[in-house]
Amino acid sequence: MDKNGTRSCALPGYSWIMEALGQTAAAPLESLDHWEDDLLERYPTQDHKFRDYKAEVRPSVKEFYRLNHVNQTLAFVKAKKAEYGALGKREMSVWEAMEFLNTLVDDSDPDTDATQIEHLMQTSEAIRADGHPRWFILTGLMHDLGKVLCLFGEPQWAVVGDTFPVGCRYSDKIVFSEFFAENPGFQVAQFQTENGIYEPGCGFDKVHLSYGHDEYLFGVVKDYLPIEALYMIRYHSFYPWHREGAYSHLANDQDRAMMPWVIEFNKYDLYSKVDERPNVERLRPYYEELIAEFFPAKIRW
Ligand SMILES: [Fe+2]
Ligand SMILES: [Fe+2]
Repeated sequence: MDKNGTRSCALPGYSWIMEALGQTAAAPLESLDHWEDDLLERYPTQDHKFRDYKAEVRPSVKEFYRLNHVNQTLAFVKAKKAEYGALGKREMSVWEAMEFLNTLVDDSDPDTDATQIEHLMQTSEAIRADGHPRWFILTGLMHDLGKVLCLFGEPQWAVVGDTFPVGCRYSDKIVFSEFFAENPGFQVAQFQTENGIYEPGCGFDKVHLSYGHDEYLFGVVKDYLPIEALYMIRYHSFYPWHREGAYSHLANDQDRAMMPWVIEFNKYDLYSKVDERPNVERLRPYYEELIAEFFPAKIRW
């Protein structure tokens, strides 16, 4: 924690020491947002000429993916689901969670980067501007609150990153899939068949995805929001499925029915970053009322 009372998911000032020692920091990204910036590079909108994505990816982002792919094992995912699924960390209102997340300050330039609350509101305001239902707007506002995992001490690779199933073969559609060779699960023959430990068509609810802010927030909000919202929250980082079409052999009818909602949400998640910063205090009364429509005063985190 620094003198301003803010905490960081990075290790400011220590990365050069780690490098000098030949060790790798668990927080290679100067800002968690750099993963999302990288998604924009990988999934640009239109008018993009062919780019050699892998040649241009920043070294810190590449190192982040390496750590993510090496460390997200089935045992790790099960342990984190048990730990955080108990919702025993805190009791907070949704707004308090937004303010708590806002104490997360990365190493990147605070003058040019929007705060975490501003990112959330840019997403929700874009959804609102398109006339979507109130639960959808609220989902936009809340979808990244699971990043408070960083403030609970989790390394970046356990908070963000494209998610993917563990316990079955890694798809080559996953970004930097070559890094999976170093994952202990790569040596387990049963985990490297097409279905692995799962039944074909079992549905993603029965599949363990790599752990991160999606799964954690799903557990927090699952009793309060409609199923479409829960899919958006739980699978918004599951790019191998909703953008690359991988793992459809594990999906069930409900997953297929919900996929268009996840894709619709992704549009706002990725492409709502605009230069104009939302006026958080002016918008707050609207959002407090929206939150109260779906949530009690305090919920468990
Ligand atoms: Fe996210
Ligand atoms: Fe997001």
